[in-house]
Formats: sequence, C-alpha cells, structure tokens
Amino acid sequence: MRSFTPVIAVLLLICACNPTQKNTGSASAVNPYQYNLNKKIVADNGAVVSAHPLASKVGVEIMKQGGNAVDAAIATQLALAVVYPNAGNLGGGGFLVGRFSSGELISVDFREKAPGAAHRDMYIEADGTPRTDKSQDGHLSSGVPGTVAGIFAYLKYGKLPFEKLIQPAIDLAQKGFTISEREARSLNGLQIELKKLNTVMPVFVKDKWVRGDTLFQIDLANTLTRIRDKGTAGFYEGETARLIVEEMKRGGGIITYDDLKNYQAKVRTPHSFTYKGYKVIGMPMPSSGGLLLNQMMKMVENRNIASMGFHSLQSVQLMTEVERRAFADRAEYMGDADFYNVPVSMLSNDNYLQERMKDYDPARATPSSVIKPGIAVRPESKETTHLSVIDKEGNAISITTTLNNSYGSRTVVGGAGFFLNDEMDDFSIKPGVPNMYGAVGGEANAIQPGKRMLSSMTPTIVLKDDKPFIVVGTPGGTTIPTQIFQTLINIIDFNMSTEDAVYKPKFHHQWLPDEILIEKGFPAAVKDALTKMGYKFAREREGIGRTEIIKVLPNGKFEAVADNRGDDAAEGW
Ligand code: GLY
Repeated sequence: MRSFTPVIAVLLLICACNPTQKNTGSASAVNPYQYNLNKKIVADNGAVVSAHPLASKVGVEIMKQGGNAVDAAIATQLALAVVYPNAGNLGGGGFLVGRFSSGELISVDFREKAPGAAHRDMYIEADGTPRTDKSQDGHLSSGVPGTVAGIFAYLKYGKLPFEKLIQPAIDLAQKGFTISEREARSLNGLQIELKKLNTVMPVFVKDKWVRGDTLFQIDLANTLTRIRDKGTAGFYEGETARLIVEEMKRGGGIITYDDLKNYQAKVRTPHSFTYKGYKVIGMPMPSSGGLLLNQMMKMVENRNIASMGFHSLQSVQLMTEVERRAFADRAEYMGDADFYNVPVSMLSNDNYLQERMKDYDPARATPSSVIKPGIAVRPESKETTHLSVIDKEGNAISITTTLNNSYGSRTVVGGAGFFLNDEMDDFSIKPGVPNMYGAVGGEANAIQPGKRMLSSMTPTIVLKDDKPFIVVGTPGGTTIPTQIFQTLINIIDFNMSTEDAVYKPKFHHQWLPDEILIEKGFPAAVKDALTKMGYKFAREREGIGRTEIIKVLPNGKFEAVADNRGDDAAEGW
C-alpha cells in the first residue's frame, strides 16, 4: 500500500488549461493539463524521481501496470523527451547504471559518437582559428545520437511490451501538455536561436509562451510512433533517418545514413568501488563521472570528515582540494577508453590517491599550478537531466541523459520534431582551446571518427549490505561529479536528511580555473576564511544542478526527493 508523505507538495498548475483536450491514452491516470509537484514522497512499492512531474507520474503508472524499474525508467525517459525538451531527448545520449534483483550490475553507454566524416581539426580554420561556434551551435555540432539504441539495449531487463512504455510519450506529444512558468520562460529565451539555427521552423517558435499554454508536438509523436512500430529501425533507418540526413544536408551537418545505421549502444562493466563498507556503482569511460567520484571519495575516506562537520571551513577546504586533484587527472588522462588507453587502475589505486594528497595542506590553498601545469577548465552546461527509479523487486535504475547545451544544438530535425545534441563540443576541439564552458583536454579527448566525447555524467547507485541504498544523479556538466560526491558525503558522513543533502548549497572546484564556484546560500564566513587561506572564488551561482535521489529507509520504504532547484518531482506508490 502506498504511504504518501508530501512533505513539500507544490501546486504547479491548478487549471485544466486545455479543456477541449482529454487525456485518453494509456497513461490515463496522468492528466497532462493539471498536475502538481511532489518534492518528496515515501512509498512502499516503487518510486520515480525526475525533472518533470508528468514524466515521474508516467513511470509510476507503468509500475502499477506490472512494470519493473526498468520499464518505469524507459517510460519516464521517453516522456522526458516530450515534456522536458531541454535535455530529455531522442537526439542526444546518456548513460544508465543499473542493479537488478538478481544482483547483476550493469552500465549502458549510449553516448553520442563523432560522425564518420568527423576529424580532429574539423573546427579549426586554415589559419588555426578555432570555431567553437560550429562545435556549439547548429548542425555541425551534433554527434550521432545514442538514446534510442540505449533504450533498446536495456529493454530486455524490463517486463512489459515496449508499446506500453512508449505510448504515454506518444500521447503527451500528440495531445499536448500544459507548460509551467519556468518552461515558458525557457522557451521564450530560446526564440532568437531557434530562428537562426533551424531550416524548418519548429513548434517551439512562438511570439510569447505563457504558463498554461499547451505544447503539441505532432512531428515528435510521429517519430515516437515509428520507434514504437519498428524499434531502433524506426529511428536509425527509414523515414526518421531520412529526415535527419536531409536536415544535415540543409544545414551543413555531416551525419550520414551509415552513421545512424552503425550506431550501437554498449553494455559496459560499471566502475565500482567501496567507501566505508558501502559499494558505489558508477559509470565507466567515456564518462569521467564514476572514476572522479571514486578518486574524490577515496581521498577523504581516511580523514574523519564527519568530525569536521558539514560546511565547516575544514571539510569544505578538504573537499575542495580533493576535487582539484581529481579534475587535474580528468583533463590529462580521461577520454573514450575504446580509443585511448585511460589508466583507470592507476588513477583509482589507493596508494596513488594517498600519494596525490601528500602535498595537501589543511592551512592553505594548494595552487593548481603546483598540482599539475595546465590550462583553464570552466564549468560545463547544466542542461542535462537525471532520473532515478526503484522497485520492490530490488531493481534500481539511475539514468542521466543530455543534449549538452540547453536544447542541444537548438536545431530541430525538420519533420521529426526533436532537438539534436551539440555534444561534439565535449571533445577537445584543439589542444589548449577551451570549449563552450572552458573545458580543455588533449590527446585523450581529441576528435576521431566513431569516438565518444568525454562526459562528466555520474549516474550512481550505492549498495549497503549488497542491497540498493541510494539511487542518485544530477545534471550540471563538470559540477556533476562534485555534486554527487557532496550529496553522498552529506548522507554517509554528515548523517544529513536526504532533503538537506540535496538542497543545501553546493560548491565546486575543477582544478582550473583555480577558483571555487559556490551556490547562493553558501556560508559567507567560510568563504571569508577560505579567502584568507588563499582561495579565489568565481561569481556565485543561483543554483548548481538538479539532483534526483531515492534512498531506501531502514524499514524498506523508498524515500524519493526531487531537487527544489527546478520543476523536478518525485512519485511513488
Ligand atoms: N554534456 C555534458 C556531459 O556529458 O558531461
């Protein structure tokens, strides 16, 4: 029986804003014109937490119809592709970390790939000028999308027929859904780029969006229907492939029929490690997330951080120094391990990590120039999205997906209705040249045809006594691993409530630039004390990330908490 604890339940929309439209689809319990936001629930049978209340509700409905966590995750992910076009997607990619009731652990890599015609210098003019505009905006910025292949790679772990999982997304696209204040603002801010970067004006173009407007996406519904009927061929071949390739030709992109047909998601062994008796399951390369989390947690494990206290000068300084060191390794060593020999064992070795902390001084900042000579790295986009799902059978699913920038390349495939990613910018387009957010790299993350660009996404599952304990993830570019690090330390070491662990202000250091990024509300006294120790600070950010977390309580119930930094919502039953 469902035990429902709406600790924070925000009424998002109270009117049936499109009374002529009735939701009669298979997700009939989900009303797309009138819904509310639960920030926290406690449930007996299963829980879903994601960036949009309709997507979370769709997932729970699927579980009620007999689906397991995988079914719910797929339905939620597909619904996000409709109701959260900023980052939910068909035209992008992502990663899944899963733990099944059998005890099996998997990760699925559906990261975008560089097209076959991509090459190392594709964003460099003859005179050496880097063209980051081309790696960031429009057709040439897109990698070959991986999302649909990913879904079909983990579909076999579900129980329900795929038609049932995708139908709610088709209904939401076809019958429309009511947009929130935040969504209206976001779409209004996009209009100039939409007009500039599209060859066919998409449904998102409008003079002014307001809260309560209904967004219909008929082209997207048709694309989803083709996927429902033809599986991966409904996306990578036939009509959808034709629409993508024609869009590429119209806009100067390079994705071909062969690129699409040859795309394959990869089931990989997760990156796992232990922390104080917990087993942490994370994403391996081409995401840096699992390895960075491993490095950061191991560098604090023996330092009694609990006694220092949450947001104390000592704990913030220690975590900052740990983050600095891990990110120095990211810039140098990490990339797609199918193309570059990433020294994962060395970087996660206990002795190496102890050695890494040898020059740590609790009394002062260690300049990044001392850690390793290097070049500037700035925070990446926060427009990625995460969903966490758990069921009573013991299945836990953690999925992070992205288009990279908000709405990706801002190019919608004409006639197909979905945004394409601008993930090519996550490669190092030229050694030493910062990308959109200042990230640099070298050989490890250079462009090669068919290679996957380095990511920071950190979908994570923590096991306690070999059973799911925490399912967590967040958007936030390079701040993703440091947020997950802090959220886990908040729970495991500082013994904080799940809401506090997520909602309390975060901070971030990524080696270069040599400065701490802090979120609004970070304690001023700690900032002042750190400044006296030699630390520099970036401009304060309104919000860092949108963490979606499920914790299994000692009584076996599922406590799901949605971040309060957005319209994120938790649902359960
Ligand atoms: N595009 C952001 C990431 O993959 O980390």
